[in-house]
Amino acid sequence: MARSGKVTVVGAGFYGSTTALRLAEYDIFETVVLTDIVEGKPEGLALDMNQSRSIEGFETKVIGATTTPEGAGYEATANSDVVVITAGLPRKPGMSRMDLIGVNAGIVRGVAENIAKHSPNAVIIVVSNPLDEMTALAQIATAFPKNRVMGQAGMLDTARFTNFVAEKLGVLTSSVKTLTLGSHGETMVPVPSRCTVDGKPLSELLSQVEIDELVDRTRNGGAEVVALLKTGSAYYAPSAAAARMAKAVIEDSGAIMPVCAWVDGEYGISGVYLGVEAEIGKSGVRRVVEGSLTPSEVAALKAAAEAVRTKQADVKDL
Ligand code: LAC
Repeated sequence: MARSGKVTVVGAGFYGSTTALRLAEYDIFETVVLTDIVEGKPEGLALDMNQSRSIEGFETKVIGATTTPEGAGYEATANSDVVVITAGLPRKPGMSRMDLIGVNAGIVRGVAENIAKHSPNAVIIVVSNPLDEMTALAQIATAFPKNRVMGQAGMLDTARFTNFVAEKLGVLTSSVKTLTLGSHGETMVPVPSRCTVDGKPLSELLSQVEIDELVDRTRNGGAEVVALLKTGSAYYAPSAAAARMAKAVIEDSGAIMPVCAWVDGEYGISGVYLGVEAEIGKSGVRRVVEGSLTPSEVAALKAAAEAVRTKQADVKDL
């Protein structure tokens, strides 16, 4: 099997290390690089992952590198094709994602600048919170074309929605299709009109009240996990989502996924990073795919765009 390409995961917390392991286990990359500012942690995790290769049957090499905010150690990431930025603090119980903006902006800006220096042609996938704002900030800090910077949220929120629908109806997750757009926060826009179970509209299977409950649980999906864990936030579903995006990039697959992408006229919305469906390939976002939404869903998406627009305009000064 031909392996190619290099992917870097910045941040060796649970989210980053799980993402790195998933990417390595795909066995499609030549190299997975995992970095962190905690000395020895990425090297130790890389060593451990490499030692699992003969058992799990993958050959991708994992390299760990300790980095500093000043940029030491980033040579190990040089010429990455894809970079997943997980750096930053996770939420504590009771916190909103937006509560992290001050501290994470500094971290994400520094990381993005160092990455841009060493991997000027990379596609960046941001997962740090607050997601939509950190994605916008990474684009500003790298000065990369907007299509080469995107954020992971819609894949995760959609997967949560799918799981809740499957559990509610007692069906296989593979028979369920759902969609969430908008922000990865208060103005998340689950799209019931695009949800089906074995091809049947969700509205034929559940009452409006039941759908609203699932929509609500999806919107609070991250907080529900944070409240249970008490320290840290979710990482199994988030890392699965981020890894799939990186896979679509390296395989130039053209997969259509809900991601946080730069929107330029679609749905009558312009000039903002927002959760939309997009075709993903080697260049990052090949194009935003404008799907059919009901008028109230379009209105909710526009409201989400305005809510994140103001915050995104502020991040350049953080
Ligand atoms: C979540 C965090 C990772 O939604 O944003 O779980």
